[in-house]
Amino acid sequence: MGQSKALLRAKRRWAMKWAMQDMPSPLRRSVLYVPASNEKALAKCASLDCDAVVFDLEDAVAPEQKVAARERLRDFLAGDGRPGCEIVVRINALAGDWGTEDLLAARAARPDGILLPKIDGPKDILDADAALDEMDAPRALKLWAMIETPRAMLNLGPIVELGQNPAARLACLVAGTNDLAKETGISLSPDRRHMAPFLLQMVMAGRAGNLAVLDGVSNDFRDLDAFGQACLEARAMGFDGKTLIHPAQIGPANAAFAPSRGDVAEARAVVDAFALPENQGRGAISLGGRMVERLHLDMAQTLLARARAIEEREQ
Ligand code: COA
Ligand code: MG
Repeated sequence: MGQSKALLRAKRRWAMKWAMQDMPSPLRRSVLYVPASNEKALAKCASLDCDAVVFDLEDAVAPEQKVAARERLRDFLAGDGRPGCEIVVRINALAGDWGTEDLLAARAARPDGILLPKIDGPKDILDADAALDEMDAPRALKLWAMIETPRAMLNLGPIVELGQNPAARLACLVAGTNDLAKETGISLSPDRRHMAPFLLQMVMAGRAGNLAVLDGVSNDFRDLDAFGQACLEARAMGFDGKTLIHPAQIGPANAAFAPSRGDVAEARAVVDAFALPENQGRGAISLGGRMVERLHLDMAQTLLARARAIEEREQ
C-alpha cells in the first residue's frame, strides 16, 4: 500500500473517532458483518463506507474453519488492511469450545468492541467483563450483546441495568432476528409484522440502559428497494442503525439513518426560534402552527449534531 493511502486511512480513522466522541452517541448507521474466514471480504472492508465493521468468528464461520479464521483475523487486524471505522469482533459463546481463545485473540487485536452472541442474561455479560479485566483489557474496550434468544428477551430489564453502571463495558444491543425466528417460530415476513413488538421492546430497553441499539440483518441483499424500506422502518422504530451482511446494503442504510434535508431545515428552524429574544425563558412556543417545546429544542440540537458528524464523516 502506498504511503498516501495509509495516511488517508489514518486521517479517516482520526476523523471517525472525533465524530464518534463529539456525538451524544457514535454513528452506527451501517454496521457490516464480515466473516473472518472470507479472505476476499476482509480485503474489501477497508474500502467500504460503513460506520462500523463486525468481524465474525461465530455463525458466519463453519466449525472446521474456526481456528484458521481466528488466526487470519489476528493477522489481518495487525496489518495495513485494518479499516478506519469502528471495529468490533463477534466471538463464539464463552461457554463453548472456541469462546475463550476468541476473546484472547480479540483483546490482543485492540478492537473498539467485542460482540457476545446468544447471551441469556446479565451473567453472560458480567463473565465476559471479568474475563477482560483478567486480561488487563482497557475499560475503553466495550461489550456489545446480541439479543437473539427468548431468555435474553425476557431478561432485557436486568441486562440493560448494566448499561446504567458507568464501570460496566456494555455499550450496544444488537437484534439477532434470524436466531430469534429460529428459536421462537415467530415469522420473519418482509414487513416483520410479528417480530416488530420484540424489536420495539429492545429499543425501549436499550434507551432505558443508555445503550445503542442496532436492528438485525436483512437476508435478501439483492432487493435494495425492499432493504431501503426496511431501514426506514428500523429508523422509525428508534434503532440507531442496521446490521448488514453485504456491501450493497451500506449506501441505503447510511441514507436511511441520516437526517434528511427537510429534517435538518426543521431542526434549524426550531433552534433559531428559541434563540429569538422574545422566546428566551419560554417553555413552549408556536412555530408554523405547531406547538414546539424545549424538549423539541433538545431533539433538534441532537439531530443537528448528528448531521454535522455525518458531514464530517463523509468529507
Ligand atoms: N463484507 C465485505 N465484503 C463482502 C461481504 C461482506 N459481508 N459480502 C460480500 N462481499 C464482497 C465479496 O467478497 C465480493 O468481493 P469482490 O468484488 O472482490 O469479488 C463482493 O462483495 C460482491 O459479493 P457478492 O458476489 O455479491 O456476494 P457473495 O456471493 O460473495 O457473498 C454472502 C454473499 C451472503 C455469502 C456474503 O455477503 C456474506 O458472507 N455476508 C456476511 C454473512 C455473515 O457475516 N453472517 C453472519 C451475520 S448475520
Ligand atoms: Mg445469531
